[in-house]
Amino acid sequence: MSRMKIAAGNWKMNTNLEEASQLANIIAAYQRPDDVVTILGVPAVFLAEAQKSSKNYSNIYIAAQNCHQKESGAYTGEISAAMLASMEVPYVILGHSERRAYCNEDDALILEKCLMALKHNVKPIYCCGEPLEIRDSNNHIKHVSQQLEDSILNLSLEQILQIIIAYEPVWAIGTGRTATPEQAQEMHQEIRKKLKERYGEDVADRIPILYGGSVKPKNAEAIFSQKDVDGGLVGGASLKADSFLKIIDSF
Ligand code: PGA
Repeated sequence: MSRMKIAAGNWKMNTNLEEASQLANIIAAYQRPDDVVTILGVPAVFLAEAQKSSKNYSNIYIAAQNCHQKESGAYTGEISAAMLASMEVPYVILGHSERRAYCNEDDALILEKCLMALKHNVKPIYCCGEPLEIRDSNNHIKHVSQQLEDSILNLSLEQILQIIIAYEPVWAIGTGRTATPEQAQEMHQEIRKKLKERYGEDVADRIPILYGGSVKPKNAEAIFSQKDVDGGLVGGASLKADSFLKIIDSF
């Protein structure tokens, strides 16, 4: 079964207008491999700019980094899925561990956000992953399984097929400490097993599962070559065009 290969960048709260535009322009214009989908997770205020940079190129899309769970209303400072849809933003990162940690997002809320995004045809990039103490006590599989059960495994078959999953062990994010290819594969296989139990093999085989956490040009190839790893969600290394382009070329 050949699944989409995906190199996704998560710029987090970085770049200014000029930097964002430059970075998106360089990545969009690069001769990227035809079979790799590139996604740029840019700050909300630069979505329009990044959209402009990428719209005349193939296989490159933008993503928002969050959206609100409600349709609209008195939520000052928030961004709705309907707003993203009206700008033709195709993807939204949801449930990133930084939002779980700093904005108190739990899986029940993340599920609500996924449902709202899907209602507006914005595809969620759903993030899951365990903190260090859970990994150290060997409960990582149980922990991630629970995250999935409390969130995306409640989606319908039609809905789950719109999702990209990103497994991001918290201890590997921004730390320079990457999961080994074997650790990534172990978890990705477990996630796919859960999908299979819930939706059947055919569906499970179609859903892309990305690895995130200190993906760099030097480790991307070994991680991406694992059977159940379909690409990466890249933070720090997506902020420099040359390192992100090398990662795009690592499949
Ligand atoms: P990192 O971030 O690549 O800087 O570890 C990954 C992420 O948070 O998505």
